[in-house]
Amino acid sequence: MTSAEGAGTAIPSPAPPAVDVVQGLRAWTAPGGPAEFPYALVLGHLRSVGKHFLDDGLLRLLDGIRRSLPESRDEPTFLRRFLDVVLDKHDGRYDYASYTALSLLTRPAPADRREALRSRDEAVLLLLADLMRFGERASGDTPDAPHGMPPSAELVAKRARLAVRVMEPAALRALAPGVVDAAAVASVPGRTPGGPLAAEILRSAAPEQTLVLSASVQPVYVLHDEYLFLRTLQSFETTFTFMSSALATAVRLLDGGRPRESAEHVGAVADVLKESLPLFSLLATMRPEAFQTFRTFTEGASAIQSAGYKTFESLCSTPSLARLASSAYTSVPPVRERVVNGQATVQGTWHALIAAHRLDPADDAALRAAADRLESVHQRWKQTHYRLAVRMIGERSGTGYTQGVPYLAAVLENRLFPAPDRHSALVG
Ligand code: HEM
Repeated sequence: MTSAEGAGTAIPSPAPPAVDVVQGLRAWTAPGGPAEFPYALVLGHLRSVGKHFLDDGLLRLLDGIRRSLPESRDEPTFLRRFLDVVLDKHDGRYDYASYTALSLLTRPAPADRREALRSRDEAVLLLLADLMRFGERASGDTPDAPHGMPPSAELVAKRARLAVRVMEPAALRALAPGVVDAAAVASVPGRTPGGPLAAEILRSAAPEQTLVLSASVQPVYVLHDEYLFLRTLQSFETTFTFMSSALATAVRLLDGGRPRESAEHVGAVADVLKESLPLFSLLATMRPEAFQTFRTFTEGASAIQSAGYKTFESLCSTPSLARLASSAYTSVPPVRERVVNGQATVQGTWHALIAAHRLDPADDAALRAAADRLESVHQRWKQTHYRLAVRMIGERSGTGYTQGVPYLAAVLENRLFPAPDRHSALVG
């Protein structure tokens, strides 16, 4: 399939054509034009044709607008980051981070573990509530784009139930008491009505959050299921941000002689990864034929480039030399560089304390228990990911240029906390 028209399914909602977007942008740049950049117009059009199929003239106009933006000495403005994501393919910079619009979504996690968890919870709740809203509108009179291969009402309901399983624990921590019935969740998890929960989350979102939510869905093609794919990846990424921040704190606490608190941090990382596992069940409802169609246009973007995943992994222990030399780490140069420069890890710091006879057996046992829990939930994560890949791509190669499933089978053997004899580390 070579063009967006080939999706085979009519798009009933009147999406703004390129010419309207051009007019809207010209009006915005004209003296005395509207103050607000026409985000909704650009996004409405992008989602109705797919980012891969944006018209050249429109791309050049957007590029010109980006060049005319004042340079900011600090962080790039939201509009510049937005345009960088829209123009990634045009610039030849398209990759996993730009596909998932991570520069719009993720911020460095707060240093305090509870605040970092709250920030992750709020982000995941917004992402999944928005996914539910998008699913519900698919069967209405004016569905939002992308709308190719719309799901059945049963599929939308199934997705909502699976999303609720991930949302409940986060909602119990982050939302006002009573929004979710804690006693009901404790007796039968996963039964909170999804529609009202999503509506409440979206109703209380700040305008900036609503803009971020909308700007961060930039599918490459026109199929409904790509929205699910993007929101699942983004939910995992916000979770990895929390995990990396909590593990960095765990290393500092251990180094500072506070092993019990360090173990609590490692345990909290295990808990949140476990809570996130049903995201894979949610993504397993993606239709393989939809995925196989839109992934034609995601070539070059793969979660093997996820800096968040490799950061949390490499904070547990220093990866083996073989893994550091493989595409697992050559795909994430800044993370690789930190490791090569001797980044401290939980296991390295822990073993150094043991070697210096500075860890008492009870503290060692607490750390062992937390590390074992994290190891086992991470093994489940990898196995589930592996099975999902088998189902979705079979024997096809990966979009990150590996052989695909054989790569994922091989990484099942790796451990976050390898036994010392198997640990060919660079440092510690
Ligand atoms: C349709 C669903 C998915 C398929 C078919 C799939 C497939 C693959 C494949 C083939 C690879 C190997 C690298 C490559 O060549 O691309 C990979 C790596 C990876 N995927 Fe997925 N994936 C899926 C969903 C996800 C999700 C939801 C996440 C969560 C962020 C994820 C995270 C990762 C990570 C972190 C790696 C790198 C693993 C490593 O280097 O050890 N994947 N995936």
